[in-house]
Amino acid sequence: MKSLKELLDLRFGDAGAVPDSLAGNEALRRLAGRGVVRRFKPEPVAPGVLDTLAAVALSTPSKSDLQQRDILIVEDAAIRGRINELLKDQDWIPGCPHILVFLGNNRRQRQVHEWRGHAFANDHLDAFFNAAVDSAIAMEGFIAAAEAAGLGCCPISVIRNHAEEVSRLLGLPDHVFPVAGLGVGIPAAPAFVSARLPLGLTVHRDRYTDATDETVRAYDRRRNGIFPYRAQRNVAKFGEAPEYGWSEEKARHYAVPERADFGAYVKRRGFKLE
Ligand SMILES: Cc1cc2nc3c(=O)[nH]c(=O)nc-3n(C[C@H](O)[C@H](O)[C@H](O)COP(=O)(O)O)c2cc1C
Repeated sequence: MKSLKELLDLRFGDAGAVPDSLAGNEALRRLAGRGVVRRFKPEPVAPGVLDTLAAVALSTPSKSDLQQRDILIVEDAAIRGRINELLKDQDWIPGCPHILVFLGNNRRQRQVHEWRGHAFANDHLDAFFNAAVDSAIAMEGFIAAAEAAGLGCCPISVIRNHAEEVSRLLGLPDHVFPVAGLGVGIPAAPAFVSARLPLGLTVHRDRYTDATDETVRAYDRRRNGIFPYRAQRNVAKFGEAPEYGWSEEKARHYAVPERADFGAYVKRRGFKLE
């Protein structure tokens, strides 16, 4: 079993010393050693577990205590079947025992204004942004709680590739929108610790410092030394790269438009994004 220090070294390559006060902390060790799980045992989790985890997830901070996020647990077989169909490009989804959808919910806030007779004077981008952030925080709360309970999870942003149909399917009214799905179940194999960008690039002190091509290339090489990509993305369009790492993979990924209609969907949900 790897220590917190060993996990952070593996993850980042440049993690400094871990203070003695934290070195033996089991909660931190578990968080540092986490990874998404996409292969699950077929059996469902025990009754009540998802509800308890949802309660823990909704105990996370919420912007101004506005509580603009909800969790939808998919139980109906027909709804689940349609979600599987919509997400058929993700081969792991059918084998995942539970799918949840984390929602941003700015509707309740607007209802409260109506009920209490006050104008809603914040109908701009922040209304959408705050609800999205609140929802993401709850999702991470759920993931941390589920992992602490021995379960595995994988977020599902591709659910937003079908935001309109998913909204109809789940009966989402205006100002309620899916932020991400979450697959949950009992892991069939331990999670893999994926190498992240060095902390020298992502933790700043006092002033922001930009990444350089060379530091990102060094990360590509370190990461490939641990777990190289099995195949290059979209070779038909971009060809076979002699050196293929994280940066080439991510640049290829976003060289092709994805969810370009999401802004239009969010506006149709009733949000003003100015
Ligand atoms: C908001 C969000 C959306 C994601 N969407 C998907 C998805 O649609 N499908 C998928 O297989 N993984 C998805 N993931 C999982 C990421 O691919 C995964 O976290 C990343 O590759 C890093 O791996 P790790 O979490 O094991 O370190 C998502 C993760 C996040 C945070």
